[in-house]
Amino acid sequence: MKPVAQELASKIQSKASIVGVVGLGYVGLPLADALHTGGLRVIGFDIDPSKITDLDSGVNYLKHLGEEMTQRLSASERFEATTNFDRLDEPDVIIVCVPTPVGKHLEPNLDYVIDTAVSIGKKLRGGQLVVLESTTYPGTTATEFLPAILESAQSYDRGAFAVGDNLFVAFSPERENPGSTSHTTTTIPKLVGGLDPVSTELACSLYAHGVKEVVPVSSAEIAESAKILENVFRAVNVALVNELKTVFDAMGIDVWEVIQAASTKPFGFMPFYPGPGLGGHCIPIDPYYLSWKAREHGCVTRFIELAGEINRAMPQYVIEKTTQALNGDCKSVKGSTILVVGLAYKPNVDDVRESPAAEIIDLLIKQGAEVSYHDPHVDRFHNMRNYPIDMHSVALDQQTLEAADCVIIVTDHSVIDWAMIGEHAKLVVDTRNAMDGLQGVKARIVKS
Ligand SMILES: NC(=O)c1ccc[n+]([C@@H]2O[C@H](COP(=O)([O-])OP(=O)(O)OC[C@H]3O[C@@H](n4cnc5c(N)ncnc54)[C@H](O)[C@@H]3O)[C@@H](O)[C@H]2O)c1
Repeated sequence: MKPVAQELASKIQSKASIVGVVGLGYVGLPLADALHTGGLRVIGFDIDPSKITDLDSGVNYLKHLGEEMTQRLSASERFEATTNFDRLDEPDVIIVCVPTPVGKHLEPNLDYVIDTAVSIGKKLRGGQLVVLESTTYPGTTATEFLPAILESAQSYDRGAFAVGDNLFVAFSPERENPGSTSHTTTTIPKLVGGLDPVSTELACSLYAHGVKEVVPVSSAEIAESAKILENVFRAVNVALVNELKTVFDAMGIDVWEVIQAASTKPFGFMPFYPGPGLGGHCIPIDPYYLSWKAREHGCVTRFIELAGEINRAMPQYVIEKTTQALNGDCKSVKGSTILVVGLAYKPNVDDVRESPAAEIIDLLIKQGAEVSYHDPHVDRFHNMRNYPIDMHSVALDQQTLEAADCVIIVTDHSVIDWAMIGEHAKLVVDTRNAMDGLQGVKARIVKS
């Protein structure tokens, strides 16, 4: 190792290094906490001033992570949060956890990543390690992120930089699973691939302070590709069970029982479950990063396209099942009172990004239904991408349930009283098998 790298390595090892985490969302905040808990000094950077104000006063804007975390951070002398990106020369290590959404035509939008690279370049100093965590297509770290940092550094006269010499750059995919208590930032193994071996080594020793298992790989491209593989794997398998759901349903067979039966095989099978459509920041979005990049190489990602087509059709499938179910009661969607239970894209979190509930509500409203929703974790639902919906959660009680012509279960939050729904609703369209196994249910249950 050259002296600059050696100095940084010693700082990291002795926990004297300062870490900057850029983007304090679902990924960045728990990561900042894990590294802080590991004994490092952490500065959080975010463009959203309300997050900084909340963190200063110990409030957690990400409810599933709990106030204990933010109170611990706000009380600590080793943590602070800021919107002042001119302080990016203070950290020895900068970890970037900003969003990587897709545009209207499912094309990658690297604006947040590039903006951050420019901010880093503006204050770049010799001997910093920069790690990108945001999910993206293979090659981004080397061909988009690093050049943007270097170009910015040059335009701000920050001096000359060479990777592996006085600048260290790596990619380490984020594998967060919000709401999960069994897999946390600390316990999920961390892949690390640097642009050169020294960057890999430095990033591995840094993460070892906050993560139990760090797995070095041979390059940033391997780490970028592994993350995309994980997400494509999930999207494709969810699409498979979603398609089988519609096939088995037409045959009068319960797909949930089929999956349960198949899961008894102790090898070569892994259960995936159907649902009302994909949601969240990752699975509905990330695979398209690869599709887009693959086109540049003359390749077609048919599995990704097909999985996307099937998964994106699920909200419409739920509407069709609802229409048929209402028909059974001599009612139309138009004019019916419909209560949607659960807005978040998965149980026990308040995250509504890309949630299929938005499309389901939108389709129902367009067909003339009177729609309301209940979600214990989402008081207000508004400003969804593509859906101009502005609603407040209603109470889930006997009166609301009796007034509804149909209840559609979109998210199976564990605090919801399913027995009460079964007792007071007339008709329940269940996309999550939430009503399974309940005894003495009065409502008519239609699985969807
Ligand atoms: N949420 C997940 O479960 C999850 C899982 C795996 C991977 N990822 C990936 O991690 C990355 C971050 O996702 P997230 O869920 O944490 O997003 P998020 O929206 O929760 O958080 C991103 C944060 O970055 C901030 N931000 C935006 N632009 C910024 C900028 N230029 N400088 C500084 N801060 C900026 C936002 O204000 C926000 O607080 C994405 O690439 C995503 O695909 C997320």
